[in-house]
Amino acid sequence: MTGPLENLDAVVEELLDQLAAFTSVEELDAHEPVLAGRRSPLAALQKSLGGLDPEARRDAGARLQAARTRVEAAVEGHRRRLAAAERERRLEADRLDLGDVVAGAVPDTLRAGHPGLVARTQAELEDVFVAMGFRVAEGPEVESDWYNFEALNIPPAHPARGMWDTFYVDLGEPETVVLRTHTSPTQVHLMEAAVRDGSLPIHSVMPGRCYRRDTPDARHLAAFHQVEGLVVDRGITFADLAGVIETFTRAYFGTDVDTRLRPSYFPFTEPSAEFEITCQICRGAGCRTCSHTGWIELGGCGMLDPAVLEAVGIDPDEWSGFAFGFGIDRCAQMRHEIADMRALTENDARFLEQFS
Ligand code: DAH
Repeated sequence: MTGPLENLDAVVEELLDQLAAFTSVEELDAHEPVLAGRRSPLAALQKSLGGLDPEARRDAGARLQAARTRVEAAVEGHRRRLAAAERERRLEADRLDLGDVVAGAVPDTLRAGHPGLVARTQAELEDVFVAMGFRVAEGPEVESDWYNFEALNIPPAHPARGMWDTFYVDLGEPETVVLRTHTSPTQVHLMEAAVRDGSLPIHSVMPGRCYRRDTPDARHLAAFHQVEGLVVDRGITFADLAGVIETFTRAYFGTDVDTRLRPSYFPFTEPSAEFEITCQICRGAGCRTCSHTGWIELGGCGMLDPAVLEAVGIDPDEWSGFAFGFGIDRCAQMRHEIADMRALTENDARFLEQFS
């Protein structure tokens, strides 16, 4: 065959040979115009058809179009194969070969997890109180202002509110809602339930998480845990309270730890006290953890204020009682001689595995 398309087959073969030599998608993309696009010899041949008579031009145009389609399909096929190979190489390069990781960086045995120190301490404290005849109860962490403050004899704007730096969830009407700043509101829930079911007396402990807008330091966390204690019965005296505190501290910390009660103030108890134990970090000598006093405050306690009993409909002439509340994290800190309480929340495996 003569004419402009005389060498068409050879041109196509030549283009396909060039195509096969490209080894990356990037290289292929850069050369595509030369193979199948504007700068391809096929585009030049197209122009040369202009001098043919109409019938010959139609035949030649159809042949040229078929050749183009063939080259374009070959380019597409080659691009797909190159892209697949590149993806394969990338995956291979990214594969993490654990055999190559420095010896020791990968554990050779899998170990089961275990409850954290705070959960374990809470369970141990519950055991001590259950052995003393208390029941265990729980209350909500999100409380209305009434439960967290007002029912505990802390009306709005009472200066004692400053004792609890509070996270407010909702300042709205009709109720202000807070993250409970202590476990004391659970006392109110328990007394209300006992009045409802006619199930007084109450001898209960109530562990749980509390929140305060505090800057964490060696002895404080913003989210921490307390155990509340509540006894409502007939003829309860301060001696019962002191006896319970003494018995519990000896059972949990051991008989060589001293306890002391110091006069204090809480709006929901009268009289009120703080109870402290010998600092276990320095054994009473004085250190950074106890601010060089030799004592660590565990919590507060006191005889139930009649106003608290009245707020839930319990007759203070018939019933009396005491309450206490202290830090679980603080107990864990003292029992295990942890100088800085923030270690409890840092999740450092070297710290955690000491308590498995
Ligand atoms: N709720 C108090 C606090 O978190 C501690 C406390 C003091 C609890 C006296 C009591 C109590 O039950 O009677 O600071």
